[in-house]
Amino acid sequence: MMNILVTGGAGYIGSHACKALAEAGYLPVAYDNMEYGHKWATQWGPLEIGDILDHNRLVEVMDRYDPKAVMHFAAYTYVGESVENPGKYYRNNVAGSLTLLEAMQNRSIQKIIFSSTCATYGIPQCIPLAEDHGQFPISPYGKSKFMIEQMLKDFDEAHGIKFVGLRYFNAAGADPDAEIGEDHNPETHLIPLVLDAAMGKSEGIKIFGTDYDTPDGTCIRDYIHVTDLADAHVKALGYLVKEGKSDFFNLGNGSGFSVREVIENAEKTTQQKIPVIEWQRRPGDPAVLIGSSEKALKILNWQPKYNNLETIIGTAWKWKNKG
Ligand code: UFG
Repeated sequence: MMNILVTGGAGYIGSHACKALAEAGYLPVAYDNMEYGHKWATQWGPLEIGDILDHNRLVEVMDRYDPKAVMHFAAYTYVGESVENPGKYYRNNVAGSLTLLEAMQNRSIQKIIFSSTCATYGIPQCIPLAEDHGQFPISPYGKSKFMIEQMLKDFDEAHGIKFVGLRYFNAAGADPDAEIGEDHNPETHLIPLVLDAAMGKSEGIKIFGTDYDTPDGTCIRDYIHVTDLADAHVKALGYLVKEGKSDFFNLGNGSGFSVREVIENAEKTTQQKIPVIEWQRRPGDPAVLIGSSEKALKILNWQPKYNNLETIIGTAWKWKNKG
């Protein structure tokens, strides 16, 4: 059985990747500092507690499990916080990824799948966004992920570490078996907050901006199911093993939904009226973000299965009701 080191393996997307890896016959070794991770999310392999900034601990875990590749999810991901406290993001995300790459170099681990983001593109010049769109990230979070992409290219060039960088659009939904799901604290993402409002856990959902240049005035996003993201990581690993070629791929559904459409859809799923609070725009939100994932469909042979909003919201709702 091939061991795979999964940094951030106790987190939202990382834990779904661990499940997908186990189903594909790999042993996922979750490496997580447990700042945001959950013990209950690590059900498919060992959990090793450690920080990506800790070179010695990384090497120790690598020596123990001899992983053939790394999937790297560990990162801070709050866009707003990154604007207020950029140092925190550059230290953890950039310096942490550098430490990880150096540990890989030290132990001759030659493959990495990296969790990147559509936030590396910045304000879209055209929709849908393809991989060759210019990258001009506007937040320290997006810039930190962009810098890691540059490091990956340089470590490949210098040390032959092959990578696949996956640029996600809006990760959403939960494991269809409801074994794991999204549980951020604080939660900032639209779908879990809409569902909290449906459960009466808040007064309602604030819509950040109703005057955008979109059909209903609210922002449009490309929501992609977390299990489809997890599957893309397994496919990317297979691609690296077989082809040994470094590359970047977008992961989205290629269709956009407005904030109001998400709320309407959630009302149908939950059979609840969800109170709406029209609010001001949130700084840094582009009106429309939709990705083209043609490249991943063609080259990774990836096909999203849970590619409609009903299923994305439905699985998230099933998970919320379990907890
Ligand atoms: N929104 C609301 N009310 C809320 C929360 C969100 O109206 O309470 C809106 C946002 O303004 C946005 C949309 O819902 O238009 C989606 O917002 P999310 O916070 O769920 O997701 P983002 O699009 O901001 O963030 C995602 C990823 C980030 C990534 C970013 C790139 O979660 O990691 O895309 O733009 F950086």
